[in-house]
Parts: sequence; C-alpha cells; structure tokens
Amino acid sequence: MKWPEVIAIDGPAASGKSTLAKKIADRLGYLFFDTGVMYRAITWLVLARGIAPEDELQVTRLAERTLIEVRPASIPDGRACDILIEGQDVTWEIRQPEVDANVSVVSAYPGVRQALTMQQRRIGARGRVVMVGRDIGTVVLPEAEVKIYLDASVEERARRRYKEMEARGEVVDYDEILAAMRRRDEIDSTRKVAPLRPAEDAVTIDSDGKTLDQVFEEVMCILASRN
Ligand code: CDP
Ligand code: CDP
Repeated sequence: MKWPEVIAIDGPAASGKSTLAKKIADRLGYLFFDTGVMYRAITWLVLARGIAPEDELQVTRLAERTLIEVRPASIPDGRACDILIEGQDVTWEIRQPEVDANVSVVSAYPGVRQALTMQQRRIGARGRVVMVGRDIGTVVLPEAEVKIYLDASVEERARRRYKEMEARGEVVDYDEILAAMRRRDEIDSTRKVAPLRPAEDAVTIDSDGKTLDQVFEEVMCILASRN
C-alpha cells in the first residue's frame, strides 16, 4: 500500500496529537516529529538564561541563534525522543509548568516562528513524516497530503493532562491545569501569525469520549482512503 508521504496533525493542547502521531509513525515506519518541543525548548532556554519572556527582541535573537536537536530516545524512561538544546538534554525539563505558562507568549513572536518553521520545513521535505503542532497544515507544510485537526473539549483535555502529571508523581491541581490550558488556547488561537485553526482541507476529529485506539483506527481509514 502506498501511504501519503506527509501527514500533518494539528490541534489544541492535550487533544491527543502526539500519542496518535507516534502510533501512526510506528505503524508506517515514518518519522514522528512534534514541533511543540521546539517552542518548549526555546522557552526553557529563555527562562534558564533569565531573559524576560516579554522581551521579544532578545527572545527572537536567541531562537535565531540556537540549534535544537531531536534524536532517537537514548534512555528508556517513557520519552518519545531526546531533546537537546546547546548539548544539554532537556527532554523532561521542557514539560515543567513554568514552560507551560510561558510557551504561548514566546511562540507568538513572528521571528521565533520564522526561525523554527524553517527548521521544521527542512525535516518535512524529507518525506515519510508525521508532523504535529498548531500550524503544520496551514503554514509549515500546506502541501501535506493528509491533514488532521484533532479536537476535544477543554475539560476533557485538562483531565487528560491532570492524569498524565499525576502518573509522573507530580503534585497537581485540576483547576489550575484547566485555567492554564484555557489561557494557552486563547493565546494560541488569537495570535496574529499562524494561529491555531484547522486548514481548509483538514479533517476534524473530535476525540471527546473516544479512546486512543478508536481515533487511531479512524485516522488509518482516512489514510487508506487517500491511496
Ligand atoms: O503538548 P501540548 O499540546 O500541551 O503542547 P505542545 O504541542 O508541546 O506545544 C506547546 C506550545 O507551543 C503551544 O501551546 C503553542 O503555543 C506552541 N506551538 C506553536 O505555536 N506551534 C506549533 N507548531 C507547535 C507548538
Ligand atoms: O500531543 P497532545 O498534547 O495533543 O496530547 P497527548 O500528549 O498525545 O495526549 C495527552 C494525554 O491524553 C495522554 O496522556 C494521552 O494518553 C491521553 N489521551 C487520552 O486519554 N485519550 C485520547 N483519545 C487521547 C489522548
């Protein structure tokens, strides 16, 4: 079977994009690439350097100068891949609440987006890739053969994130997660450059009340129908 070469998956936080994309990539033998980790890695570096996230000029300069490396997982601790920035492994650090709270501000800057979009397009151009983010179908890879927009209610998404963090042994408060997620959705979908929205030719899937396997089967049917 000849599968589509490039598959774009967009949607809001915790809609299930990464889990779905990884499963598709494993099944097809494709590369799974989560663009969110790049925005998270830059945000982590901004905070680590003591730069104010509101300082657009400094943040943009840093994004333009910094190479983010995404490599196959070297440690079997549940990670999908290794994320390195300036040689330092920040795979888990980029999931900290401080990064969650600041990543939308950093990723709204046009210069930051331009720098990271260029790196993402280079990876997409190689083909055989499932790329995940907010603007993959609309901006990064508008020529992708299949575009999926994965959605779910904000309450359901906050519940999923809560369970995920609880399972990692973190002290979490559901209402805080819900409020932070609402804030991030709001900034991501109203920013001027590359806002979160479905591409015109995307298939929207609402995953509320659906298991991961149900969504996966639904998407595999879509892929098979594009043969
Ligand atoms: O995993 P989760 O859905 O919580 O978020 P993520 O995919 O890791 O993305 C973190 C943040 O990066 C998002 O809230 C966006 O602000 C930004 N992002 C973006 O602007 N464009 C992308 N292609 C991917 C992520
Ligand atoms: O990448 P994104 O932030 O969109 O979501 P994810 O990291 O793939 O999924 C967030 C959490 O929701 C994970 O713990 C998934 O196992 C869970 N999930 C779920 O319970 N049911 C779904 N249909 C999709 C995801």
